[in-house]
Amino acid sequence: MSKKVLVLPGDYIGPEIMAEAVKVLNTVDARFGLGLELEYGLLGGAAIDETGVPLPDATLERAREVDAILLGAVGGPKWDNVERHLRPERGLLGIRSQLGLFANLRPAILYPQLADASSLKPEIVSGLDILIVRELTGGIYFGEPRGIRELENGEREGYNTYKYSESEIRRIGRQAFEAARKRGKKLCSVDKANVLEATVLWREIMDELAPEYPDVELSHMYVDNAAMQLVMRPKQFDVVVTGNMFGDILSDTAAMLTGSIGMLPSASLDKDGRGMYEPCHGSAPDIAGEGKANPLATILSAAMMLRYTLGSAEAADAIEAAVSKVLDAGLRTPDIHSEGTHLVGTVEMGEAVVTALASE
Ligand code: NAD
Ligand code: IPM
Ligand code: MN
Repeated sequence: MSKKVLVLPGDYIGPEIMAEAVKVLNTVDARFGLGLELEYGLLGGAAIDETGVPLPDATLERAREVDAILLGAVGGPKWDNVERHLRPERGLLGIRSQLGLFANLRPAILYPQLADASSLKPEIVSGLDILIVRELTGGIYFGEPRGIRELENGEREGYNTYKYSESEIRRIGRQAFEAARKRGKKLCSVDKANVLEATVLWREIMDELAPEYPDVELSHMYVDNAAMQLVMRPKQFDVVVTGNMFGDILSDTAAMLTGSIGMLPSASLDKDGRGMYEPCHGSAPDIAGEGKANPLATILSAAMMLRYTLGSAEAADAIEAAVSKVLDAGLRTPDIHSEGTHLVGTVEMGEAVVTALASE
């Protein structure tokens, strides 16, 4: 049976890293007989340029039809001056929300070969394996009312609304407890319950769920402390569950623990486990076109897609093993480069993963 994958390369480095992930997918497809059918779509700035909007109906339609979606990254200075509701990022938020992709899993795993690439001391990060479960379709990103309005005194005011309903909290909570149950059985819920009511309720619901998961140890932490603890003693964490904005920030922080944001994959899942797979990083306009972006976050996102949505754990394992092999061989894009390793570009890195897959 064929499995349809919608590929959305996006903007700036998006197409560069996606080209490598596609080579890897084609390789595992041939080797494991997966029957993958890749098709391409437009999202973000690329879609604005072609159609005038960041999330064309055609993309959304195909996204609903296919088995899984693989996204590069969207956005960049080219579209900084378009109207707010037409920005490339709105396309990304739109597809997440329209498809109900409320659970964003962002694993931060340190490959032992990259202990030197982290900005933290090797003993702080060695063996690091944490999972950030970020709520992705609610919170301050989507709360209404929002906007920029004129006040009576003539100045303007920007405003957003931070809110979470009980059901929104409960479903992401369950996802996180389930994930913790399959891992180290520790769940840390991160909030700002000392200040924000939306997160007072968040904490209450997490506590309410805890008795259903007696094998999981639940703790709570304020987000400011969590940011500090993540860089001070990251290995105290197993699974972290948090809201949309805190999760966005903490996952970039966690990325640096693994050496580079260019290493961090993610899965954005709906209630049935269908999903969109995307690196945690953005479109990196500062290095686009130079052929030096790290494609591994996208390649590892493709592996997550095979494991979680397409039911091909074997192919996912093979990709992860190939990545490890390439790192063993000392190949490094500039973001993870350190003394004594071999500097390569995007294409060389992607093709080395393909070669490693073929030689397994
Ligand atoms: P960014 O993640 O694009 O870049 C931050 C820094 O990390 C840059 O120095 C960049 O060169 C580096 N970097 C990122 N990915 C890399 C990779 N694969 N290899 C090597 N280095 C990498 O964040 P930004 O600069 O704040 O945002 C740029 C644009 O991307 C913005 O328009 C933003 O909205 C968008 N963005 C999109 C996504 C997404 O599509 N999922 C995520 C984050 C940001
Ligand atoms: C991410 C990005 C997006 C987010 C932006 C581009 C809308 O930063 O996927 O982490 O904030 O969710
Ligand atoms: Mn982000």
